[in-house]
Amino acid sequence: MCGIVGGIVDSNIVPTLLQGLLRLEYRGYDSCGLSISGESGLRRLRSISRVKDLAENARDLKSRSGLAHVRWASHGRPTIANAHPHFSPTAGEPLISVVHNGIIENYIELRARLIASGVSFASETDTEVIAHLVADLYRGDLLSAVREAIASMRGSFAIAVMSSRDPDRVVGARAGSPLLVGRAAGKSGYLVASDVLALAGVAGEAAYLEEGDVFAFSRDDVFILSAEGKAVERHWFAVSSSVSTPELGPFQHFMQKEIFEQPNALADTIDGVQADLVTAQRGEWDFGDVDSVLLLACGTSFHAAKIAAQWIETHCGIVANAEIASEYKYRVSVPGPNRLVVTVSQSGETIDTLTALRHAKRLGMTRSIAICNVGTSALVRESDRHLLTRAGLEVGVASTKAFTCQLAALFALTLAIGRAQGRLSEEMERDHLTQLQGLPDKVSAALALEPTIISWAQALQRREHVLFLGRGIHYAVAMEGALKMKEVSYIHADAYPAGELKHGPLALVTPEVPIVATAPNDELFEKLYSNLQEVRARRGFVYLLVDSDLSLESDDDLRILPVPLQRGPLAAILHTIPLQLLAYHIACLRQTDVDKPRNLAKSLTVE
Ligand code: M6R
Repeated sequence: MCGIVGGIVDSNIVPTLLQGLLRLEYRGYDSCGLSISGESGLRRLRSISRVKDLAENARDLKSRSGLAHVRWASHGRPTIANAHPHFSPTAGEPLISVVHNGIIENYIELRARLIASGVSFASETDTEVIAHLVADLYRGDLLSAVREAIASMRGSFAIAVMSSRDPDRVVGARAGSPLLVGRAAGKSGYLVASDVLALAGVAGEAAYLEEGDVFAFSRDDVFILSAEGKAVERHWFAVSSSVSTPELGPFQHFMQKEIFEQPNALADTIDGVQADLVTAQRGEWDFGDVDSVLLLACGTSFHAAKIAAQWIETHCGIVANAEIASEYKYRVSVPGPNRLVVTVSQSGETIDTLTALRHAKRLGMTRSIAICNVGTSALVRESDRHLLTRAGLEVGVASTKAFTCQLAALFALTLAIGRAQGRLSEEMERDHLTQLQGLPDKVSAALALEPTIISWAQALQRREHVLFLGRGIHYAVAMEGALKMKEVSYIHADAYPAGELKHGPLALVTPEVPIVATAPNDELFEKLYSNLQEVRARRGFVYLLVDSDLSLESDDDLRILPVPLQRGPLAAILHTIPLQLLAYHIACLRQTDVDKPRNLAKSLTVE
């Protein structure tokens, strides 16, 4: 969360800072800001609007050195006062400017100590303590002051710091949040960023800092100190000279585009994952002695993990549990030496999932597979093995194509485990694989339901609460439908296993609180249909997704949408498509910021 870019170059750095911020906006868009150093000291510009707005106001700014930041608010509301960079002191000439990603966990204690010593604060952020700490410790050497300040900070952070007294120097540190330094391309100068994306085209090469590293650079030189304080070299790699800017094409939003990209994304993922699994099994991957599976993930990826856990128990006959990563790492759990840990993540940078994996490893569970959309991500790097989804870049904060691709990859993995466990015959595996390969065409057919979904969206757009129901794996599909609805349309939505309704949530049902249910024509259909009758008996209005081979008619209080037929486990993917479209079209009708919903960010790198 949050994004950092900064540096010292031999021409005006402001366009580089602004371009970097635009590319980092996916990490947070609550506010943004930059500080530059000039003859009259440090100057800063901040905005609680988007980077485009900051760029408008920064048109006349010029400097060869500066720091910039996009913020996802954690401590303190998205106000100008809380936007980075933070300065110290708060009155008079600023001495120190700081940008920060992550969280300083002991900031309350540090803040109290600084206030007691006479420091006044201008913001509610944890970041501001860094600025004041460094200013307090500054005796003419910025590097020493930053190192001393860090020694008293607890938490997970990446920082970059400048001083008005030494405008030709940037100092920074990495402790739990990614940070890299770059050499300016074709000219002198150095840069710092929290994501290599911000350096494409401006840095010729870059090096990732390692945990505990501190760096300092001027226009001509850079050096890195390890956590032990020793001068170290890190691996420098070539930075791509350009980034391809994702195009919207004929679509209104990236979310819509990404929903419609699913047939191709799925086809690529299915081909890629199958090939990877064949190669892997010929090599050293052996699932024969795996006795259980633990799936760790967050948000949408957790819903994919939850579905996969049921697939694995059904088709592999071994225990499988999906756990919310942020909970798993803080509870006492029983490790299993032969348990396979499967992490699921679009970005591969979600700190909760990463730390849950590290926790599982510490408990002795060393066999891990990451299902991930980004091959260079931390999750892939830290996992024993990985299977990449090939969804392509997902820009919309609401995850859509990544989810269905995760499911496709997890299904292929389920089949591989099932075969190795002797639970699936070759013929059964082949049959399932044929179904999997036929999925992209059926997803295309499901996308053709958009006009009906638009009419549902028109009917639902003014509701403030919606309940989603499903049974079996379709409970997780309902959870995903509810999450999409909350995220982009801001309608309060909750999901329940349909049988749970009568145990409490039925009290919520009124003509104002509609129900959306996903009901494939499986062994649970009749049970679910009975649950829906209980809703209709209480004047609830039902929107029902069914398989296309069921002959059900819409009624005054019941709208039926037949979904292209897909028997068995993969029906979960088909039933997800209309729910994605529903959330999307309601969001459009409610005129929300579809691709950047309020309060959210695409990549969540703080706990
Ligand atoms: O990158 P990840 O898959 O690890 O992200 C996990 C969640 O943060 C993510 O799925 C989030 O819930 C999405 N915004 C949902 O649309």
